[in-house]
Amino acid sequence: MTDINSDTLDREIAEGGRQIARDCLKPGDVVVVTGAARGFGRAIACRLAREGAKVALWDVIEDEGKLAAAACSEEGAEATFFACDMGHADNIGSAAEAVRKKFGTVYAVINNAGIHPRSPAIDVPLDMWNRTLAVNLTGSFLTAQAFAPGMRDAGRGAIISLASGRAIEGAQNGIHYAASKAGIIAMTKTLAQEWAPYGIRANAIIPGVSETRQPMEAPGVTLENLRERGGNVPLGRVGHPDDIAGMVMMLLSADAAFMTGQSVAINGGAIMLP
Ligand SMILES: NC(=O)c1ccc[n+]([C@@H]2O[C@H](COP(=O)([O-])OP(=O)(O)OC[C@H]3O[C@@H](n4cnc5c(N)ncnc54)[C@H](O)[C@@H]3O)[C@@H](O)[C@H]2O)c1
Repeated sequence: MTDINSDTLDREIAEGGRQIARDCLKPGDVVVVTGAARGFGRAIACRLAREGAKVALWDVIEDEGKLAAAACSEEGAEATFFACDMGHADNIGSAAEAVRKKFGTVYAVINNAGIHPRSPAIDVPLDMWNRTLAVNLTGSFLTAQAFAPGMRDAGRGAIISLASGRAIEGAQNGIHYAASKAGIIAMTKTLAQEWAPYGIRANAIIPGVSETRQPMEAPGVTLENLRERGGNVPLGRVGHPDDIAGMVMMLLSADAAFMTGQSVAINGGAIMLP
């Protein structure tokens, strides 16, 4: 046992640091981004392309998805659009197969696609509940599961999933949304535990209200009054897709190599987790 008063202690700790494997995204690694036609997904895909990743963009909107892929390609990286409705397991299976055929092993999955239809809990129709859970939660799990065997064989991989502050605080007129996002946090912790031995890390991002279409789908919400809400946020503004893209890069970097099972809030201080 090393004596804590020995001269060599600091040197031994430093040597241990040098021996730690710090896996991270490397240029040419393949990343799948779901819901990549718009909003966070598009910003994440373009940022990944700028950093040298090959990007597979999945979305249900084909025309905008292809435009997003073209924007990623302009960053100099290989980027391809794959049509996929995250609410259908067979779509996910086919898109995953097409990605493997084109790109081979995938290093990371960014589970970003999400919907937020509104209804008071007392009236939520079963099909709204089922569709929201299918797209936001089941689709995220199936996408992670589709690529996990390749990651396990490679001994490295990362799953990043978009949760929401609504998972912590609840969502008025969005019980189905809040439940799906709470499920993302629970899924992330479980994948982190089960897949750590394979070299796969799983983390979630909890964005605050941000400048994308999703919050503007609520009645009466415009970009202008969304921005005004920034006045109630400690850092004085609502979020921007680039904030989320930046956190994705951080979670894929070597500096996050010891981080798994965590949910990171990016919200200007709007919700402060313990
Ligand atoms: N914007 C916010 O304020 C906010 C806050 C917290 C969490 N989030 C979460 O962040 C993620 C991204 O949201 P956003 O704000 O960029 O929303 P957005 O509506 O701007 O973009 C969502 C993207 O997902 C795609 N999509 C929707 N349904 C799909 C399906 N069935 N299959 C494939 N793709 C589908 C859309 O076409 C779109 O490109 C979502 O999971 C959302 O719940 C957003």
